[in-house]
Amino acid sequence: MPKLTVTDVGTFDVPDSKRLVNALEDEASIDQLHACGGNARCTTCRVQFVSGEPERMTQAEKDVLTARGLIGQAGLRLSCQILCDHEMEVKAISRLAGSGRPDAGKRPADDITPPAVWVEK
Ligand code: FES
Repeated sequence: MPKLTVTDVGTFDVPDSKRLVNALEDEASIDQLHACGGNARCTTCRVQFVSGEPERMTQAEKDVLTARGLIGQAGLRLSCQILCDHEMEVKAISRLAGSGRPDAGKRPADDITPPAVWVEK
């Protein structure tokens, strides 16, 4: 089981290859935003990597980060497009509390959506 550390929250065992966005909610009990339901459209599922940032990303993540001018910001990634398949530490920087939103968004599916096409970050 890979370990997920959320800065200032704790370290958690996560089922191998679980979507990071769902692990943040389920294992780390974070009120993580995911307004578009995990479809690489909203960027509210963003996290800040401290360590273990994946070298690959989905084409969908790359496209939306590029469109929003966020590509290349060190450590900034979309948790709905990342699998927990190794040890990592992130800061939870986009949470329901204080967002003014009525809810965190529809529960993302178990598998990455849209279906993952992997590219170098
Ligand atoms: S981009 Fe919307 S939940 Fe990830």
